[in-house]
Amino acid sequence: MSETIMQVKHITKKFPVSGNKFLMACDDINLTIKSGQTVGIVGESGCGKSTLVKTILNMHAPTSGEVIFHEKDITKLKGEAKRQNCRNIQMVFQDPTAAFDPKMKIADIICEPLLNFNLIKKSQIKQKARELLELVELPADLVDRYPNNMSGGQRQRVAIARALALEPEIIVCDEATSALDVSVQAKIIELLVRLQREKNITYIFICHDLALVSLFSHRIAVMYLGNIVEKIDGDKLQQAQHPYTQALLRSIFYVDEEKNKNIETLTGEIPSPLDLPIGCPFQNRCKYCKDICKQTKPQLEEVSSNHFVACHLV
Ligand SMILES: Nc1ncnc2c1ncn2[C@@H]1O[C@H](COP(=O)(O)OP(=O)(O)OP(=O)(O)O)[C@@H](O)[C@H]1O
Ligand SMILES: [Mg+2]
Repeated sequence: MSETIMQVKHITKKFPVSGNKFLMACDDINLTIKSGQTVGIVGESGCGKSTLVKTILNMHAPTSGEVIFHEKDITKLKGEAKRQNCRNIQMVFQDPTAAFDPKMKIADIICEPLLNFNLIKKSQIKQKARELLELVELPADLVDRYPNNMSGGQRQRVAIARALALEPEIIVCDEATSALDVSVQAKIIELLVRLQREKNITYIFICHDLALVSLFSHRIAVMYLGNIVEKIDGDKLQQAQHPYTQALLRSIFYVDEEKNKNIETLTGEIPSPLDLPIGCPFQNRCKYCKDICKQTKPQLEEVSSNHFVACHLV
């Protein structure tokens, strides 16, 4: 049994917006993250996935709640303690091009975090960058290239190499493979899985694609309108019970035409996070909606061992 590496406790994030209103981006989120495992966080655009991980990474403060890592609430860290904490939790974004300085060579990009923490000398940059490039299965002679002269898949491997440089315990991938074509995406996932096995890295993997996440996540959290509506083991996903998770499962496209006959797309609009409905956030798109769903918000409840669902009808 893996040990708990991080505990996200009651994280709520409200953004102030004009007219003295606030936007509820994350509402009382609880997650237990196990060492050496992958937690997949899925949900449609705007459901609060990035806000949640930015709060976990201490990129912005939660409105309330805490994130326990190495027995400390890392959302309260400031100054040097906050900087040192970054060594343990690294991030890979959807578009590494935006994160890379186009005038920097690949070797400097990959080793920048090591230099920032004074962990290598300038004379060691190229050798260290070569080692990290090999780790992500890229040719070592890319050290002198500029990021614009690479393919999207290569750039994403460079971003992973850079994230690995500090040997973090946790890597957060925010739509890290979403911009890549399917075959490149599969190779990057294979790489991440290999690195996890070799280095016992924990991943928080954010993605809107449930089919992809289910391939390698030990645990899956499904988000809807700032809430986690279902938490389930990756290998039990087919037993998902929340109508939203079931709808996401039914909307997965298969290569096999026979399976595609059952494809259903979700209809209806997601309500505005500025004007949340009373009751269940999914009520206006749920085909099972009853009166109680319009009156009381369902809480996450354990329906079977380690399987939590927030639905009145389950
Ligand atoms: N800095 C901010 N100020 C105000 N509102 C914000 C801010 N950042 C995010 N939001 C809002 O919070 C909600 C959640 O946004 P978030 O970026 O976390 O969604 P997401 O699930 O990551 O979406 P996507 O899949 O499109 O990346 C959205 O309604 C968004 O408009
Ligand atoms: Mg996002």
